[in-house]
Amino acid sequence: MNKEQIIRRISELKKEKNAVILAHNYARAEVQDIADFVGDSFALSRAAVDLDADIIVFAGVRFMAESASILSPQKKILLPDLDAGCPMADMVTVKELEKAKKKYPGAAVVCYVNSSAEVKAKSDVCCTSANAGEVIASIPENEILFIPDKNLGSYIASKTDKKIHLWDGYCPIHQLITEADVSAAKEKHPNAVFLAHPECRPEVLKLADGIFSTSGIIKYAAASDKKEFIIGTEREMIHKLQKDSPEKSFYPVSEYAYCANMKMATLPSILRALETETAVIAVPENVRVKAKKSLDRMLAAVPK
Ligand code: 13P
Ligand code: SF4
Repeated sequence: MNKEQIIRRISELKKEKNAVILAHNYARAEVQDIADFVGDSFALSRAAVDLDADIIVFAGVRFMAESASILSPQKKILLPDLDAGCPMADMVTVKELEKAKKKYPGAAVVCYVNSSAEVKAKSDVCCTSANAGEVIASIPENEILFIPDKNLGSYIASKTDKKIHLWDGYCPIHQLITEADVSAAKEKHPNAVFLAHPECRPEVLKLADGIFSTSGIIKYAAASDKKEFIIGTEREMIHKLQKDSPEKSFYPVSEYAYCANMKMATLPSILRALETETAVIAVPENVRVKAKKSLDRMLAAVPK
């Protein structure tokens, strides 16, 4: 089948099976173009609840599909490639978390959504990069164990008086972005605004004109009267930025900022997922119920 035939068949199957495709802002451009909804992790988890569908094909990574399944267990959640993981999510295990909870018995565990369902189930509340500040302000505890992203954690720590214990986790893709990359990009594009994702290193965030989630970066750039932007996150973001604002120029801060896991959803793998209704992402009920509490507390902390 050629590309057009694959797209046509995907669209037929979506109608036949009452299915929708949700894509993260880092998904392949051609996948974003056929998705019913494209967004950041937070918007995707809300969309998974709100969209009326029997099947959701998740063009993203496993923790995102798991979150959808935790929140909407009556929907069939499909991940086109089971290998689409997130290395940062693997940087905290239940065993390690249990040990840390003993070390900080008074701390509330705030868990970045980039984590496994089991870890969410052992946490007090989840957050994403779009709402970490609001979530932390919404809980009564003044001492927090923030897992697993040390960069997002230290950024949030700089915005609150609460005591935050950091975990030694990070995104290997954002960690590749250096101060030198930012300086080189600024030299090349002296009039450009530098927008960064909070998963970047603190020394990179210091150089940013704005720090937002992926959808936050897209919204900010679309609303800004500036014409040029250096984008401090995964490079596929340029697709939606450019689509929304064709008259503006966007430059990835580093060509190396490429998340291969996010590219595992391809047009052929999405077609296969819809045809075979595999691979289903489901979370054991005892874990799901506890993890849902953490996700529900996050959703409740951020008004619609
Ligand atoms: P967002 O929630 O900002 O989309 O980020 C998710 C992610 O994995 C970034 O690396
Ligand atoms: Fe995980 Fe980083 Fe890929 Fe986001 S960009 S999914 S944090 S590896």
